[in-house]
This record gives sequence, C-alpha cells and structure tokens, in this order.
Amino acid sequence: MKQIQIVDSKEHVGEVVKIGAWVANKRSSGKIAFLQLRDGTAYFQGVVVKSEVPEEVFQLAKGLNQETSVWVIGEIREDSRSKFGYEIGITDIEVIGESHEYPITPKEHGTDFLMDHRHLWLRSSRQHAIMQIRNEIIRASYEFFNNHGFVKVDPPILTGSAPEGTTDLFETNYFDHKAYLSQSGQLYMEAAAMAMGKVFSFGPTFRAEKSKTRRHLIEFWMIEPEMAFMHQEESLEIQEQYVAYLVQNVLDHCDYALHVLGRDRSVLEKYTKLPYARISYDEAIERLQANGFDDIKWGDDFGSPHETFIANSFEQPVFIMNYPKAIKPFYMKPHPTRDDVVVCADLIAPEGYGEIIGGSERATDYDYLLEQIRQAGLNEEEYSWYLDLRKYGTVPHSGFGLGLERTVTWIAGIDHVREAIPFPRLLNRIYP
Ligand code: 4AD
Ligand code: MG
Repeated sequence: MKQIQIVDSKEHVGEVVKIGAWVANKRSSGKIAFLQLRDGTAYFQGVVVKSEVPEEVFQLAKGLNQETSVWVIGEIREDSRSKFGYEIGITDIEVIGESHEYPITPKEHGTDFLMDHRHLWLRSSRQHAIMQIRNEIIRASYEFFNNHGFVKVDPPILTGSAPEGTTDLFETNYFDHKAYLSQSGQLYMEAAAMAMGKVFSFGPTFRAEKSKTRRHLIEFWMIEPEMAFMHQEESLEIQEQYVAYLVQNVLDHCDYALHVLGRDRSVLEKYTKLPYARISYDEAIERLQANGFDDIKWGDDFGSPHETFIANSFEQPVFIMNYPKAIKPFYMKPHPTRDDVVVCADLIAPEGYGEIIGGSERATDYDYLLEQIRQAGLNEEEYSWYLDLRKYGTVPHSGFGLGLERTVTWIAGIDHVREAIPFPRLLNRIYP
C-alpha cells in the first residue's frame, strides 16, 4: 500500500493509501466519527463509519485525543463540501504517539498564552497558512532576483558597523573586541555590488528597539538588493515590480492559505497593477496638515497614523520620496538641488500596514561620506573599508531593504507581525 501526503490526495482518488497524521480535532456520534487530520502539508477530514469498520477501530477513533499522532489507512474520496476537496474513508488506525491534555483547544485563548505555546500554536491551520505564505514570498524573492540577473550574496551577521544608527544595536563580545549583530547588510552589499553588479541578500536583522507595536520585531528577516550603475528612479521600478511579483505569486500558489485566513483575493489583485504612486515627503506633509494632522511639521518622521492616512489615499502601495536628511542614515545620496533632503524612498503598504521597504540611492563622493560619518559620531576607522568603495572607481548605485515579516503580515492580511515569523523575538519575549 502506498504512503502519501494529504496535499497529494487528488492524485490518489479511489486508492487505498496510508497516511501519517495528527488528529487536529474530532467530532463523533454513535454511528460516525469525523477526524480532522493534518500532516504538515494540509488538513483534511477522515471519516470512520461504525457499520463499515471493526468495532475496535471505531472505538479507537472515538477515543482519540487532540494531537495524537496516527497512521490511518483508507480510501481517498472527493469531498465537495470542503474547500480542500478530498477526504479519507478510514478503515484502520494505528496510534503512534498519544497526546494528553493538549493545551491549545478549539476554544479562544489569549495572545500571551498562545505566544507561550508558540511551539505548538504553529500547528494550527491559521499559523500553518501564514507560514506557507511566508515560504512562498521567500521562494518568489529568490526567483525574482535570479530572473533579473542578481547574484545572492551573504553579508556577515557579526559586524563592527552600524548603518542604521547606533541607538538600537545588539552588542556582543568578539574575543577582545566588541561586535554588533547586523542591523542591515547594506554596507557589505554595496561592496558586493561593486564586485558582482546586481546582488541581493536574505538574512536575519537585529534591532534592539524598545518598540512594542504590531509592526516591530527585535529579530526580523530582510531582503536587501543593491545595484551598481543604477539611479533611484530605476530602483523604484525594480521595487514595485518585485512587490507586485510577490503578491501575484501568493495569489497563484497560496489560494488555500488565503482562504483559511479569509483574505480577499480581489483586494490583493489590485496590488499587482503597476505603477505605484510616488509622492514627495513635502507633499505627504502638506496632505497631512491639510487633513487635520496638527501634530506633524516638516522635518518630523511619520508615525503609523500618518503612514496609514497617506496609504489610505491610494489604492496601491505608495512611495514617499526624498525625506529630510536629518532623519535618514548617513549613506544616502544628497539631493542634487536641495541640501535639506536626500534621494530615498520608503514604500508604504495599504490598509495600515506601514513601511515595507526602505531604500535610497547611495552617496558616491568620498569627502561627503567621510563628513557624514564624522557628523553621525561613527568611528571612521571602522568605515575605512566602506570609504574604499568611493576611492577605487565609485559609481552611482542604489538599493533597498524589504522587511519580510511586514510584507507577510500585509499580504496575509493578519493583524500583528509576531504571527509572520515562526518564533518571534519581541520586547520582553525570547521564549520559546
Ligand atoms: O528602513 P530600514 O531600516 O532600512 C535599512 O535597513 C536599509 N539599510 C535597507 C537598504 O537600503 N538596504 O529597514 C528596511 C525594512 C523596513 O522597511 C521594514 O519593512 C523592515 O525592514 N523593518 C522591520 N521589520 C520588523 N521589525 C522591525 N523592527 C523592523 N525595522 C525595519
Ligand atoms: Mg525605514
């Protein structure tokens, strides 16, 4: 007899097969037991009919506890009542591992309780769906950049530099020195772009931010492309094509997960239409002030109510361009005709999900950068290698960073970034 996975059921209709699974849930009457089965690939229903199986099989089925692991044997059938479309008519069951008093029951649980049981919570159909969308976004990211001639480069995690400012660094000992966990691979990706042309990275990022919002993680994953011989305008085109590609691939490959999450496909379809709008920081400030936001003035960074208001004025993600120099990192290219702003853009997701991409054209002039490094109070010896890039054949180049979990949260349509990563690290949480 063939052992199959639930997800492959459609290829085995009418066959008797063996499946290893967990009992996610169960309902039974005197005559029939319905087992909600999951094997990691999908969820479907197993049906045990008293009159069709030996009495001990029916009694075993009726007594199975939630999350017991089992081998089931039976025939795959179509099941037009479920979205999945198939079920198994069980004829035999063998218990592999018992489960007693599984803590997560079908009733409502508080978030803290679920977070304490994250190692088990991941088994639920909703978390499973989110992880499948996350996986698809990662897969499609590699595909997009490979299709566009980018080379994957891995920047280090242990670093001596602080590209995004020194306030939120995780410090660690590096033998006799201090080191920091990477808060962005960007500076190394700039070096890599000078060697390989177009590069991208995908790796963990650490920010010791004391932020407790639904958008902030302490440890998150970022995709950071960097392109030599490229100005900001062309980088924005790549960014919007990339984001639209992610949405399209989730639509194409995660229909079931979107269904489980109740995410409306027609909403996502709007985000595949290009181009996305571009407005300047100046215009964003004007729009906010004209609409009753008295708390913001030119020079301030946006808070989430501001980003949400701007996003709600558009059907699709929107680029906010050319922020004040004073609120952006040292490496951004100065504006050609204004000295108060830099050549950069953040991409703001719709529906209140906030910034998903931060990017810019990079400063190319050695003296300018050295001055910026000094003004930022950074140790210039630590950046001497970075300055070398401007000493030996500097070229226009641009890049950006897309936050994976914020993008998953937005595309999946969930409330909080903590559900977009398997084991979230949050302020006050490093368990499990
Ligand atoms: O805007 P950020 O800080 O940009 C950089 O790090 C640049 N060096 C990227 C580059 O140009 N190569 O971060 C980029 C993205 C944000 O837009 C956001 O999506 C995500 O990373 N991000 C976070 N995600 C979750 N939790 C946090 N604390 C995040 N901080 C940033
Ligand atoms: Mg940013």
